[in-house]
Amino acid sequence: KDISIIGVPMDLGQSRRGVDMGPSALRYAGAIEKLEELEFKVHDLGDIPINRPSADQANQSNSNLKNLVQVIEANEKLSDMVDKEIESGRFPLVFGGDHSIAIGTLAGISKHYESLGVIWYDAHGDLNSEETSPSGNIHGMPLAVSLGIGDDRLTNISAYEPKVKPENIVIIGARSLDPGEKALIREKGIKVFSMHEIDRMGMPAVMEEAIEYLKERTDGVHLSLDLDGLDPSEAPGVGTPVIGGMSYRESHLAMEMLAEAECITSAEFVEVNPILDEKNKTAVAAVALMGSLFGEKLK
Ligand code: ARG
Ligand code: MN
Ligand code: MN
Ligand code: MN
Repeated sequence: KDISIIGVPMDLGQSRRGVDMGPSALRYAGAIEKLEELEFKVHDLGDIPINRPSADQANQSNSNLKNLVQVIEANEKLSDMVDKEIESGRFPLVFGGDHSIAIGTLAGISKHYESLGVIWYDAHGDLNSEETSPSGNIHGMPLAVSLGIGDDRLTNISAYEPKVKPENIVIIGARSLDPGEKALIREKGIKVFSMHEIDRMGMPAVMEEAIEYLKERTDGVHLSLDLDGLDPSEAPGVGTPVIGGMSYRESHLAMEMLAEAECITSAEFVEVNPILDEKNKTAVAAVALMGSLFGEKLK
């Protein structure tokens, strides 16, 4: 299958500059060469233009949804692009940018499936809304938005909602959940393999269970991989690092098991921030993980 790469140089979903350079860092780390090595035909569609708020707009925004207008605008564009690539039979691979872009990715993908599954590989749940968010940063909200929870202008991107059912979500690597997020996980019965389960069961058993769970109920699976899911010692270039994360090796194993299961139908790699990184180490790790996800071991 051909792969289409879409860069989203978005940093307006959070408060630290530099994550807008994520797509460049991933390309510089050799993402395209890696996928070509694996004999995929790669179409690099470049970066989506992101409009920054004027100083006036930025000062005015006193809501708990920072840069809402710009985030909506970018996600509508992203959704349209992803939608077209799927229609043309290509695998959409999105490069972030902060995690708020998952709103647009999922909006573009989900209408093509009856029952889309999502693997959320992340230290965080990203299940906040305007009411529960401690920061007002939209990158902490995309999974809730995709469930149809939150401001209607976000949940209705591409004019339909919800994008995902709670029982079709598997969160892997969680270790920093806000009180409102924990309540939502309980209320909706969302499947979470936190660091506790990973330590207890081991990554092989976690991935086996996650894959089996999703295969039973979904007709496609989107992988949303936030690099802060990895331990900051191995992926330091992220804006919201949380110690005690998944190792580089566990993450490779997870990607290899997904490749073997042949269940992933779209993916995004987000939150790479080269300004906070050590010599592009985080983007290099992300590209290595892409290799495993796309079957490096099986070739
Ligand atoms: N839970 C925190 C918040 O809502 C942090 C979210 C971090 N999200 C991320 N995609 N890195 O602000
Ligand atoms: Mn995160
Ligand atoms: Mn609604
Ligand atoms: Mn995230």
